Amino acid sequence: MTRKPVLSGSGLWKPQHVITNEELVVAYNAYAEKFNQENSKEIENGKIEAKALSSAEFIEKASGIKARYAYIKDGILDVDRMRPKIPPRPEHELSHQAEIALNAAGLALNDANKDASEVDAVIVSCAYTERSYPAIAIEVQDALGIKGFGFDMLVACSAATFALQRAYEMVSAGTADCVLVINPELTSPQVNYRDRDSHFIFGDISTATIIESDQTCKSEHSYEILGTSAETVFSNNIRSNFGYITYATDDDPYGTDKLFHQQGRSVFKEVCPLAAKHITDHLEKLDLTPQDLKRWWLHQANLNMNLLISKRLLGRQATAEEAPIVLDEYANTASAGSLIAFNLYHKDLQQGDLGVICSFGAGYSIGSLVLKKRAIT
Ligand code: COA
Repeated sequence: MTRKPVLSGSGLWKPQHVITNEELVVAYNAYAEKFNQENSKEIENGKIEAKALSSAEFIEKASGIKARYAYIKDGILDVDRMRPKIPPRPEHELSHQAEIALNAAGLALNDANKDASEVDAVIVSCAYTERSYPAIAIEVQDALGIKGFGFDMLVACSAATFALQRAYEMVSAGTADCVLVINPELTSPQVNYRDRDSHFIFGDISTATIIESDQTCKSEHSYEILGTSAETVFSNNIRSNFGYITYATDDDPYGTDKLFHQQGRSVFKEVCPLAAKHITDHLEKLDLTPQDLKRWWLHQANLNMNLLISKRLLGRQATAEEAPIVLDEYANTASAGSLIAFNLYHKDLQQGDLGVICSFGAGYSIGSLVLKKRAIT
């Protein structure tokens, strides 16, 4: 019997704390003014540059972001700290990232009408994991009582799509019947809240997806996966140098290069054409055109990027219904963005409708899955 992998469930968990642009800007500007005051002599002598102020209007116009969720808000807006104050947990307790992974996993299992006992592989895939080993996925597997195996994957902004592709291949090959893919994007500890160019970009979130064989699917809303495509092109334009080797290089483990940093303009210019071409090529391989797609669940880094990509593909800007934007509420959530859009905007599709999930970002990495809605049951 041939097995077809299907996407059968989706979960979205959001933290209880919200930080608006206005709150973030008040904190950043207080920090910048304090910095300028404390360094007034060096600034006057031209030894260091004064810090310019941030603005909520700029943030919304440049990115489409109005707010973001924070796993822990405490500390982020404190001018003397400017980073979340996450309480350490002893080794016998569930880790922070496993906890938010489990929150999304439960919702995805429920959505797919599945019990954890029916899952036989867990992939935790995101931009950062809070430790090297044991894998967060194995901790999640243990907490859910899943027999089988789990592993972590890091592919920055494309961690979610690349993991869904691995799940698709595992189900196709028969090495797993049902795979739970989770993206616990705990990004706030890697944000430089003292950096005017990037202090507003990221938010915390957790998404989860079920990929299983069509033979076992009992979900109301499910999708045939018509094709998957992945592409990487090396670039230093989005980078974090955080890593275990700092202990041996005697470098500052908390230096600003260890946090997220980017050449935003270059990213914008280089990634938009790459992503548009990637989608066109993927659709061509499937004998499809952009006009055939009903929905675009695009990566959520920047509103203007998404508008530009859809314009290149359709010859006009996609409508909010065609390519939903979730940046206003969620900000950039690393790899989870396209799956938040999917989670919120797919149940209205009818049998046979086509859509694409596509991520693009650091690496550079681009990943896509073309989906076809199955009969609603
Ligand atoms: N508040 C107010 N003004 C700001 C500001 C802030 N927080 N940050 C930058 N500016 C100013 C700059 O000083 C500059 O002023 P100038 O023109 O007088 O020199 C102007 O706004 C434009 O700055 P720039 O950094 O070039 O902004 P941008 O229009 O390129 O937008 C990004 C910045 C990050 C939103 C945009 O480059 C982008 O979306 N990049 C890639 C996508 C992304 O975020 N990727 C993340 C990883 S996937």
